[in-house]
Amino acid sequence: MGDPFYITTAISYPNGRPHIGHAYEAIAADALARFQRQRGRDVRFQTGTDEHGLKMVQAAREAGKRVEDLAAEMSSHFKAMCDALDISYDRFIRTTEPAHHRASQAIWEAMAAAGDLYLDRYEGWYSVRDEAFYDEKELVVGEGGAKLSPQGTPVEWTAEETWFFRLSKYQQPLLDLYASQPDFIRPESRRNEVVRFVEGGLSDLSVSRTSFHWGVPVPGSDGHVMYVWVDALTNYLTGTGYPDTTGDNRYWPADLHLIGKDIVRFHAVYWPAFLMSAKIALPKTVFGHGFLLHRGEKMSKSLGNVVDPSELADAFGIDALRYFLLREVSFGQDGSYSAEAIVTRVNAELANAFGNLAQRTLSFIAKNLDGEFPKSGKPEDADGILIEEVIVAAAAMKAAFEDLALSQGVEAWLRGVFACNQYIDARAPWALRKTDPDRMHAVLRTLVRAIRILAITILPVVPTAAAKVLDQIGADARDHAAIDDDGWYEAQAASGFRIAPPTPVFPRLELPAEVNP
Ligand code: MSP
Repeated sequence: MGDPFYITTAISYPNGRPHIGHAYEAIAADALARFQRQRGRDVRFQTGTDEHGLKMVQAAREAGKRVEDLAAEMSSHFKAMCDALDISYDRFIRTTEPAHHRASQAIWEAMAAAGDLYLDRYEGWYSVRDEAFYDEKELVVGEGGAKLSPQGTPVEWTAEETWFFRLSKYQQPLLDLYASQPDFIRPESRRNEVVRFVEGGLSDLSVSRTSFHWGVPVPGSDGHVMYVWVDALTNYLTGTGYPDTTGDNRYWPADLHLIGKDIVRFHAVYWPAFLMSAKIALPKTVFGHGFLLHRGEKMSKSLGNVVDPSELADAFGIDALRYFLLREVSFGQDGSYSAEAIVTRVNAELANAFGNLAQRTLSFIAKNLDGEFPKSGKPEDADGILIEEVIVAAAAMKAAFEDLALSQGVEAWLRGVFACNQYIDARAPWALRKTDPDRMHAVLRTLVRAIRILAITILPVVPTAAAKVLDQIGADARDHAAIDDDGWYEAQAASGFRIAPPTPVFPRLELPAEVNP
């Protein structure tokens, strides 16, 4: 087993069904988890649902359901979405689990032991939609003079007895953290926002509620439940067995918390402060990705443009959707999707570029060589040059993924695909069949090697389709360490494996008539 690599998504509020924004985050985290597994890391990938808080209470009331029933029902939709999108999570956590209550109470007690919790009265603004407290100075004025949170959500005046966390005490330690660990918050634009916010001064944070009871009970304090973000953030620790010192402890500290830009403050300010207080190691990186928009607009129930991700996967295919999202959106920035954009990109890059390369090469071999692996034939410099170009593309994708530059990584891979297509057009093995069969063998051999490297490389992005291509040539997806190993080819050719007439792995998409995403 390699070094542990712990990656998490945000845990979603199961107050409604999942949408494509949730799917986007899960897919990005999944591609990174698969990428690290491929490199031999001992990966733990956690996702799940954030089930407490006033928002859930209100949603249940509106739905006429018990809150625990709504949470269970919607949580199962989130889990089903992950399964429908090939999300390879190791743990799907629900914050209503007893183990999670125990972990939340343990971190609470550790913060209390540090002298960082005190009882007082909270009076101020609260946004149920964001589950966040806001200072008066942060509010903005909406239509008709209504006070809104900086995220544009309604706020309500709240006054109750609560526990406070001494967040103010952590202002300087947090600023020191951002200075000494520049990768703690990424991308840089989010980091700058957080630094500005913390430099502006931190008030102590209300961390319990007494006006409702749907939450983790505060130990030894009847009538108080924890502020939902205290328990929500702790989910990351629960997943490693905290407070027990079990074998799963090796996953802490997390390598990467992947979250949306709207919740960076909770992850990059409150969370490290809680951990410092409880004397627990800090995660290495919090990455705030951008928002996915629909045709450039925010998705919302009132605009009617909220689409169930499983419907999109049904319409276009799981791998096509995954590829599109990771390729289209520059990771960290907002991005937009539409049915046309999905069809255009997937057809150009997957169906026409990579799919066609594999299809024409393998069907040519099946037809003209009876599926036998091409022989060394008559090699030329161009062959070695192509393999080198493909290896360089694979290495560039690796470097980009290590740096969380997902779209750039896929683009690098695509350069390898384009190089192969230029090669196949220029070398025209179909013409060589009659004029120079030895040369034809060398060309096809080079292409099979290149296709294998490209399929292994893109596996984290399109796991099912890439595995099918590898199956067609009898290659093992786990061969990653030996990606550029010529020995694989010789062994495979000697094994007598035959390439069967392949079915296309990346079919061309049509614009679906009935779906209008
Ligand atoms: N429950 C909190 C997170 C707690 S983490 C300890 C929450 N839940 S959420 O359901 O509102 O959002 C879950 C994740 O989805 C967040 O990272 C959020 O940023 C992300 N997204 C929600 N809408 C999105 C888009 N339209 N586009 C991309 N990501 C979006 O926040």
